[in-house]
Amino acid sequence: GFVPYHERNIVLIGFMGAGKTTIGKVLAAKLSREFIDVDELISTERGMPVTEIFRTLGEEAFRRMEKEYIRELCLQKRDAVLSVGGGAFLQEEIRDLCMANAAVFLMDIPWEQWKTRLPLIRDSRPILQNKTDEEIRALYETRQAIYERHHFKVDAGSQTPEAAAQAMADWL
Ligand code: S3P
Repeated sequence: GFVPYHERNIVLIGFMGAGKTTIGKVLAAKLSREFIDVDELISTERGMPVTEIFRTLGEEAFRRMEKEYIRELCLQKRDAVLSVGGGAFLQEEIRDLCMANAAVFLMDIPWEQWKTRLPLIRDSRPILQNKTDEEIRALYETRQAIYERHHFKVDAGSQTPEAAAQAMADWL
């Protein structure tokens, strides 16, 4: 039967640098739940940063790992807060799995606000490297389509992480 959202794992999605990890940590503390950053878990278990996985094994290999880890976590955990990479929802299987089994929250941020964060995250994200500002803007726009699958949209641009986490807790 239908499992109420507050009894499910929480999954935070959204574009790189939107605040998934920051807000997710605040929410997990607020709800006394375990917090797991899936990219961080993958890099710890593989013994290399995500940039290094992209460079040596390639994006396709990373996407396979991402799918396996998210699937396992969704099945094994019951009340965790999971922050997933901004590209995770590119995979239909991950979208379907999370929508059916978790409470999916979109960290939403308008381009005008997001672009001010670009200098802070540019070097640590393989997807942003070797791209012009226009290409990054185009990527931002096309990514919005995959983020349409969610249960609740959170304003992650103009409110504090604390307020964003509170809005999520209230919705649950
Ligand atoms: C990616 C986002 C990153 C990370 C990888 C690919 C993407 O996660 O998974 O660099 O394709 O958008 P964050 O959204 O946490 O930066």
